Amino acid sequence: MRRLGILISGRGSNFEAIAANIAGGRLEAEIAVVISNRADAPGLEVARSRGLTAVCIPSKGLDRLEYDRLLIGELQKHDVELVCLAGFMRLLSAQFIRAFPNRILNIHPSLLPAFPGLDAQHQALAHGVKLAGCTVHFVDEDLDAGPIVMQASVPVEDGDTEETLCARILQQEHRIYSEAIARVLSGQYTIAGRRVLFT
Ligand code: GRF
Repeated sequence: MRRLGILISGRGSNFEAIAANIAGGRLEAEIAVVISNRADAPGLEVARSRGLTAVCIPSKGLDRLEYDRLLIGELQKHDVELVCLAGFMRLLSAQFIRAFPNRILNIHPSLLPAFPGLDAQHQALAHGVKLAGCTVHFVDEDLDAGPIVMQASVPVEDGDTEETLCARILQQEHRIYSEAIARVLSGQYTIAGRRVLFT
């Protein structure tokens, strides 16, 4: 069984969608461990209530390298094959990226390369785009920048607030993250420059 390590910092709805797809037989994988850098992340409780291993590794007082060393250790201890960032609000060091080459995915709530970084949905509304969406991408050393695995777009309606747009995007996030994980786990792809090509 393909072992996933999921990193969260908060709500964990993407993690829950992945867990639900696994439980429902729609994604062939196993969640080996859920790790949060925040003890109060609601996703930790959800993980525990699903009977999953959920660990908090607080980042306070540690520099990036020390912290990432702990993260790598925990993920390796659980034999994680693919690391899935799901609302994990920390930048990862080059050491971390090197420990899991092409084995880290992230989901971002915009059609990258538009609106990287924080508050992507706010940025999209402020810019006045007519299409918004989400992106699953491999993680490299730059923020929200690695090769794109999948994207989904949603319309921006005239009456949208950040809340309504976030909700519309989130629905798509929950759909494409599991699909992207399945594709990557299948191994049937190549990376040509920035392009992820499915074979
Ligand atoms: C999502 O919008 C995701 O795209 C972004 O952070 C948010 C996490 O939400 N990276 P959740 O914790 O998965 O509910």
